[in-house]
Amino acid sequence: MNENEAEKYTGMLEMMGFVPAVDMENADFILFNTCCVRENAELKVFGHLGALKGLKREKPWLLIAVAGCMMQEPHMVEDIKKKHKHVDLVLGTQNIHELPQTIYERLTREKSIINVYDTERYIPEGMPLKREHPYKAWLSIMYGCNNFCSYCIVPHVRGRERSRELSDILDEARYLAEDGVKEITLLGQNVNSYGKTLEEKIDFSELLYALSKVDGIQRIRFMTSHPKDISNSLIMAMSELDKVCKHLHLPLQAGSDKVLKEMNRHYTKQRYLEIVDFARSKIPGLALTTDIMVGFPGETEQDFAETLDVAKRVEYDLAYTFIYSIRKGTPAAEREDQIPEEEKKSRFQRLLEVQDAASLKKNMEYIGKTEFVLNEGKSKTNSDINTGRTDTNKIVNFKSKEDTAGQIIKVRITDAGAWSLEGETV
Ligand code: 5AD
Ligand code: SF4
Repeated sequence: MNENEAEKYTGMLEMMGFVPAVDMENADFILFNTCCVRENAELKVFGHLGALKGLKREKPWLLIAVAGCMMQEPHMVEDIKKKHKHVDLVLGTQNIHELPQTIYERLTREKSIINVYDTERYIPEGMPLKREHPYKAWLSIMYGCNNFCSYCIVPHVRGRERSRELSDILDEARYLAEDGVKEITLLGQNVNSYGKTLEEKIDFSELLYALSKVDGIQRIRFMTSHPKDISNSLIMAMSELDKVCKHLHLPLQAGSDKVLKEMNRHYTKQRYLEIVDFARSKIPGLALTTDIMVGFPGETEQDFAETLDVAKRVEYDLAYTFIYSIRKGTPAAEREDQIPEEEKKSRFQRLLEVQDAASLKKNMEYIGKTEFVLNEGKSKTNSDINTGRTDTNKIVNFKSKEDTAGQIIKVRITDAGAWSLEGETV
């Protein structure tokens, strides 16, 4: 979602006549699009901001902006006001469309401008957007989150869940298709509850059916699905609709029922495993990916063993693994039974070992098979090689004599590593 928002900033800047700078030193405008899900990302932002003080002194006309969900945390904005007075503008996550007017205000007034809404507003539509990829696009279908997992800052900074109107989503998909996009990835904190805030009665699986009818769009992906809300109708839509990719991102977070309860996740290990079995039985060849966190407060070795057990049983194609990070203002941050750093790191390492083995094993199963791959064009590092993805979202690097960028082509898989596959065109 952050990347999608960055594309909106870039789109607006381009329409205002800005062009990309060769590097930071040569820029006249610098915008940091921040994330506050984990502390590390926040620390980096302050590091970057501190490093820019000198440049701003040399180039007083340089404009520095900070945007993104970190700016929805009042104490962060206070820190900027006190310790980073060289920041010219601050934008909240619901003020993205106000970038042009905020720049104008800053240029016409000699003071920093802070533009952050803290309550939910209307969803702005039709913003210009500069895509990073010619053939694939992010498409946000909803904003905010109502789930309040006890470790997570997102509901506090992104506000309550709200869905975009079906007609707006379809318009955007049609526009993208006309612009050459073949693959869209629908984005939402919990796509399974799409439509709940709309007057029109519609759910996520119906949205998938509607989007499948858009000519030109050949592949539809989505994330994230919360296990507590996964419905049979979604699994059925995935198995019936050819355009919907055979890939489900299903965050586990933890394997222990006790931890899951304290995380406020509303499912058990057994229920999670049942969903996996059901999805796999209905969608042959399904790729499963997940988010897993270690070191939640109070997590014992036994609890962690349950997480490892799920990872071993499911054998995820890929897992995004995280060390629990204290987020001020969330219930888990208040707990006194925080896990020592060393312990967290050791669990993280043990989880990676299990997961890396699973990723490699899953990828090896592709060797010798022929897959449909959306050719995304030449690899950035080697122009003899094309790169693309399978329906199951595996990265494939392959040699091709013809220029088939933007097409879905057949590739025979010849080799596999934990992160990507290699192949040759058929
Ligand atoms: N610490 C570590 N990881 C977190 N995530 C969310 N909040 C935290 C936190 N406080 C992870 C979850 C989520 C992913 C996007 O980030 O696993 O699914
Ligand atoms: Fe955070 Fe939970 Fe909402 Fe995901 S579902 S954004 S983890 S509160």
